[in-house]
Amino acid sequence: MRFDVFTLFPDVFQPYLQASILQRAAQRGLVEVRLHNIRDWAYDRHHVTDDEPYGGGGGMVMKPEPIFAAVEAVLGAELACPVILLSPQGRPFTHGVARQLAELPHLALLCGRYEGIDERVCQHLVTDEISIGDYVLTGGELAALVVIDAVARFLPEVLGDPQGAQDDSYASGLLEYPHYTRPPEFRGWSVPEVLLSGDHVRIERWRREQALQRTWQRRPDLLDSAPLSEADRRFLAGLPPRNSGEDQEAHDPDAP
Ligand code: ADE
Repeated sequence: MRFDVFTLFPDVFQPYLQASILQRAAQRGLVEVRLHNIRDWAYDRHHVTDDEPYGGGGGMVMKPEPIFAAVEAVLGAELACPVILLSPQGRPFTHGVARQLAELPHLALLCGRYEGIDERVCQHLVTDEISIGDYVLTGGELAALVVIDAVARFLPEVLGDPQGAQDDSYASGLLEYPHYTRPPEFRGWSVPEVLLSGDHVRIERWRREQALQRTWQRRPDLLDSAPLSEADRRFLAGLPPRNSGEDQEAHDPDAP
């Protein structure tokens, strides 16, 4: 899959793309990320890419001409692929959105900076807007990396494990069960006995119940749409009331 990234800060991408799984995916030809500096298409003497907002107010706005010129030079005037603007005003980025984007052979990501981007870019160039969360970053670069990373995980062979992204939190509609590795005891904290039992039926049941319990404690909203069996529902019905757990406090999104 090919990603074309349009940004004023191409250098921030390299360290992450050149590490670990994404680097291996690039070396194996599974993922290609092409970085384009929007400033290269600012043709005035000082290569200016921003200007003051019409109507006044603080901050600077990214000018439309270099952005249109950059995107059209790389993708053609007919746009060879969807152009996604990373912006806090976009639709929420989720597991499902990442999986859908991974079906595409080619995607362009446009990173905004400054206070915003001239609205004509959003209306006449961009085909989709995505937000990675309800907070404002100083630019779209980190969000673009998040999208590349999450989408790449869905591409066949990018993850070494053939189960790939299927076991993730969210793939099942539930949060993941807890993981343990050696040693069996560390600082007096033991690995749950069931995981050492070799009894795969018991282990599967324990994992399912842990996933259900965790989701109930931390993200009960997910249970509304998760596919649940009768046994799952019986297990959930037997759980204590939600506010009693420590987990809940630690993950309460409205906690101060
Ligand atoms: N740019 C600034 N904040 C952002 C966010 N939350 N998501 C995507 N792009 C952004």
